[in-house]
Amino acid sequence: MTYYDEISTGYEELYEEEQLKKIKVIKQYLKPEPEDKLLDVGCGTGLTTEPWPCKRYGVDPAKKLIARARQKDKIEYKIAPAEDIPYPDDYFDYVVSITAIQNFSDIKKGLEEIKRVGKDKFVLSYLKKSSKAPMIRKIIDSMFDIKKEIEEEKDFIFFTFD
Ligand SMILES: C[S@@+](CC[C@H](N)C(=O)[O-])C[C@H]1O[C@@H](n2cnc3c(N)ncnc32)[C@H](O)[C@@H]1O
Repeated sequence: MTYYDEISTGYEELYEEEQLKKIKVIKQYLKPEPEDKLLDVGCGTGLTTEPWPCKRYGVDPAKKLIARARQKDKIEYKIAPAEDIPYPDDYFDYVVSITAIQNFSDIKKGLEEIKRVGKDKFVLSYLKKSSKAPMIRKIIDSMFDIKKEIEEEKDFIFFTFD
């Protein structure tokens, strides 16, 4: 069982307010069309999957968080890590990953998978305070064409579109 499985019942109480602040920032730029397909990688309980008015999908390796996400929202949530995303190449119009990258077991592989399943629109965020933050930034810079970067209270947020 992962740390996030262990705290699954209290996850939203602990983090909802913090995560919704980030969503508010991202919403200024991420405006999908109803027919667009959007994948949330490291979706947890779905707090960061639910807000988008389009076809939504979520993956996360924590079974209990996915169970909670499925209770709230009858969309396609799959138990899977970023390092092995169960979708074909170029499948999604948008791929987002909010405050999860610092938790991937293999950050480079996870970001490669995110890039593989997406077309060209990505929103990637990670905790500023993570000891892995400098390394994550280097990998993102080397792999993605970043158009906008926002320093939010807790996260760095990167966009590959304007
Ligand atoms: C801080 S939570 C963020 C969850 C959600 N995006 C939100 O903002 O509420 C970090 C998430 O990363 C997930 N995670 C851990 N290892 C992962 C991996 N290898 N691939 C994808 N997600 C992972 C955890 O299960 C957890 O749901």
